Amino acid sequence: VENAVKVLLKINGSTQRLEVDSRTVLLDALRERLGLTGTKKGCDQGQCGACTVIVDGRRVLSCLTLAASCEGKEVTTIEGLAQGDQLHPMQAAFIKYDGFQCGYCTPGQICSAVALLQEAKNGDVSHVTNNLRTSPQNLELSDQEIRERMSGNICRCGAYPGIVAAIREVHSGRETAQA
Ligand code: FES
Repeated sequence: VENAVKVLLKINGSTQRLEVDSRTVLLDALRERLGLTGTKKGCDQGQCGACTVIVDGRRVLSCLTLAASCEGKEVTTIEGLAQGDQLHPMQAAFIKYDGFQCGYCTPGQICSAVALLQEAKNGDVSHVTNNLRTSPQNLELSDQEIRERMSGNICRCGAYPGIVAAIREVHSGRETAQA
């Protein structure tokens, strides 16, 4: 490979060593090199959010992130959220509230939503542009704030009401019982 670089990634808890072209984006490394096809390629230019994954606790657009820049970092994809056969509460809530239709944007939506909860807890306002924060500690999240924080994730089917309902429920800490 021309411009080959070695990169060590911790993906969903397991260490992966890859040799990639230095220009390879994380999205392609995940999908084409590691077979982790849960992360979707929509626009491939930072516009849709389908490729969202979590790197060291923060959401990133993997289509705009060089794999080599993730050296030594913890990458969590949709495949890494469930614990055994136990869905992540956010996955369960998306099912409960029909937070998807065709499902193509869903892995990105769920990764964004999981990171959003942590950001809200930390008072991180990087994804809120309109001063919509509900409270300083973000003990509550208004639907408007959830929408704003999720605005980087486009759903062509328009499943937004279900997405917001799912996030609202998980944020409020109510158990999402799901058979
Ligand atoms: Fe990355 Fe659309 S595929 S934002």
